[in-house]
Amino acid sequence: RLLPVLLSGGSGTRLWPLSREAYPKQFLPLAGEHTMLQDTWQRVAGLAAGAAPIVVANEEHRFLAAEQLRQVGVEHAAILLEPVGRNTAPAIAAAALQASAQGEDPLLLVLPSDHVVRDASAFREAVRAAAPAAGEGALVTFGIVPESAETGFGYIQSEAVQSGDTAGVRRVLRFVEKPDAATAQQYLDAGGYYWNSGMFMFRASRYLAELERFRPDILAAVRAAFDAAQRDGDFIRLDKAAFAASPSDSIDYAVMEKTDRAMVLPVDIGWNDVGSWSALWDVSEQDGDGNARHGDVIAVDSHNSYAYARRLVALVGVDDLVVVETDDAVLVARKDRVQQVKDVVARLKAEQ
Ligand code: GDD
Ligand code: MG
Repeated sequence: RLLPVLLSGGSGTRLWPLSREAYPKQFLPLAGEHTMLQDTWQRVAGLAAGAAPIVVANEEHRFLAAEQLRQVGVEHAAILLEPVGRNTAPAIAAAALQASAQGEDPLLLVLPSDHVVRDASAFREAVRAAAPAAGEGALVTFGIVPESAETGFGYIQSEAVQSGDTAGVRRVLRFVEKPDAATAQQYLDAGGYYWNSGMFMFRASRYLAELERFRPDILAAVRAAFDAAQRDGDFIRLDKAAFAASPSDSIDYAVMEKTDRAMVLPVDIGWNDVGSWSALWDVSEQDGDGNARHGDVIAVDSHNSYAYARRLVALVGVDDLVVVETDDAVLVARKDRVQQVKDVVARLKAEQ
């Protein structure tokens, strides 16, 4: 049995001012008509054979998550609520404990709720292809052919493939989370490396066993928080004191870098993690001048720019610009500098 787990706890600060703490990007319709959380569910709903997903989100977003899922036909998801964010290793541990409590040992398909996948049917095909290995105890990752020495991703070195081999699941030789730029460039030059897409598939029991092996401190804290959880309809509120006592770490550092059971399935699915405004420009529909325009935007003699507007916004004679206008804030940035938008958020926080 396949059970989707939707990770919905990120804050998406690089998409400020649209993505806010109170309303992060997974709850916004950034790449189409539905919100990213809704798209994530609809992409895999058909694989779940009628089962509802497990959602892991911050306590503060419980109604957003529940309401958005209801809008796409999910009546009773198990919604695990984190009193504080402790990153993905604890979040996935809570989901695995909930899956086990539901009485089986399903294959968990762990999905970030803020990615774009243009070819959903190729992705579903990949999930089907990865299922046997995951069923036999592998921690399966989905590998993306890297395009640049991006430092915000995990890098996966896979076992060499004999020519003529089909592009199936293969052993991971090395998993390196967020290498520095020089190391990332070496990997690119060497070849045989993939980006980690951040989507995973494994048995609930296998994840718990690997976490027990490498980070028993995290597992113990999450188990205590889960055992003392308050159940309130579909909401499962993890115990605050116990969960807050967990170390904060991602699955990538806590488990994937260390395990010898990792496998990778290379995929070509039109994946984009939409981590910044330039990535959003990339996946948006563009006019003949390469401008992505959301809302009431006029572009005159302007190129390759991204504009999002609530009021009327006009661009004249500008190239490679990002302009985002919301009710209470305006962002104007060079498209190649949008990684620094998170510095704006940090400064705002410091001034609070
Ligand atoms: N519930 C919950 N709780 N979800 C969380 C938390 C948390 O504390 N922290 C992050 N998430 C969610 C985010 O919303 C996102 O959907 C997903 O988990 C991954 O977290 P990110 O913070 O976006 O991770 P990343 O982008 O730095 O790195 C990961 O993704 C890359 C691909 O986009 C890693 O897996 C990398 O190896 C990978 O290349
Ligand atoms: Mg991410």
